[in-house]
Amino acid sequence: MAVGTVLVTGGTGYIGSFTTLALLDNGYDVVIVDSLLNSSKAALDRIELICGKRPTFYQVDITDEAGLDDVFSKHPDIDSVIHFAALKAVGESGEIPLEYYRVNVGGSITLLRSMAKHNVSNIVFSSSATVYGDATRIPGMIPIPENCPIGPTNTYGHTKVMIETVITDHIEAERRKAKKAGKPFEQWNGALLRYFNPCGAHPSGIMGEDPQGVPYNLLPLLGKVATGERDKLLVFGDDYASKDGTAIRDYIHVLDLASGHLAALNYLREKKPGVKAWNLGSGRGSTVFEMIKAFSKVVGRDLPYQVVDRRLGDVLDLTANPALANEELQWKTKLTLEDACADLWRWVENNPKGYRQDPPAELLEK
Ligand code: NAD
Ligand code: WQD
Repeated sequence: MAVGTVLVTGGTGYIGSFTTLALLDNGYDVVIVDSLLNSSKAALDRIELICGKRPTFYQVDITDEAGLDDVFSKHPDIDSVIHFAALKAVGESGEIPLEYYRVNVGGSITLLRSMAKHNVSNIVFSSSATVYGDATRIPGMIPIPENCPIGPTNTYGHTKVMIETVITDHIEAERRKAKKAGKPFEQWNGALLRYFNPCGAHPSGIMGEDPQGVPYNLLPLLGKVATGERDKLLVFGDDYASKDGTAIRDYIHVLDLASGHLAALNYLREKKPGVKAWNLGSGRGSTVFEMIKAFSKVVGRDLPYQVVDRRLGDVLDLTANPALANEELQWKTKLTLEDACADLWRWVENNPKGYRQDPPAELLEK
């Protein structure tokens, strides 16, 4: 018997596919809904290759309430949702804000409505460190604790803050309603997981990030420099107040991030805390130059780069204080930056076309 059944929205995407793997490995059944806007069904094959189990999949858009209703009706055993599905490109969010609000905020409301109709009352939500904006604006807030004032600086970040608010108001209202009616109210719970900079791939080399478009995050771009697809990395500014002048981020291995979701889900189901926010980060900050050095080391040669102007909207330091998650969720990152770089390189080197090609036979034999 399964521990429980979880609906994972965005489950064929990068973080969703790794979390699905962690859920299946830990006795949960998983039902995925994904529009495949930024992913492919091949992720399901890789999940199955690694853990021997295949999640149930529906190509459904989270803005389609009837589609979601249909999935919940077919799976009355679903008791929790992990909600990843979203548009996530910071730059694009400033160009087409209405689409970001429609999909991210509107889609989350549609999901919550459908969940309520089917009495599904636990939600784990993919929020982001981006909700804090520039935490260096407030003295004493680096590393960033959860009570750091919110202050997003872009449309994508605004959608994350809005969804956090919608989830909080909704869960609290359902609790009040149930309490007033003399019904069990503790079943309504939400986890707002604020991730820092997810990176890395599966150590097998057969599962990793495979977006449909062009990557804009540091490590995937370094991967493209290493394979020769790009001639150099552009370093966005070396005049920050850090030890080497480049900006600081808290890079977290996607396997650790996935286990953080499992820990949060288990916490909601056991402790029934209402709505809580947790930072998921390592607590260790690394500069862009340190990342270039770490990745160059696993590749075995120096990777070319060129320092250019700062990127608009970038901040000096986004390092997590993960103490709350360490303590309450009994969760800590286990993998290092070196692990993330080595795993990413194994993935990139062996799968130049991502999921659009079969995984190399020699990796499957291992
Ligand atoms: P991803 O793009 O790989 O995964 C998102 C998935 O959602 C994709 O499979 C996409 O096809 C799907 N999707 C998009 N719109 C949809 C819709 N309307 N209906 C159904 N499915 C839809 O991104 P990811 O990196 O795995 O991010 C997952 C979540 O984590 C997102 O909510 C993102 O905002 C959040 N997050 C990501 C990062 C990061 O750096 N990757 C950091 C913090 C938070
Ligand atoms: C990391 C560092 C860049 C590319 C973004 C979102 C955030 C979250 C994670 C979703 C920065 C530098 C990068 C390059 C560079 N996503 N860099 N050259 O901006 O910290 O966070 O992804 O929630 O919301 O904003 O990540 O990987 O783009 O950049 O010098 O070509 O690398 O300036 O210091 P970022 P990133």
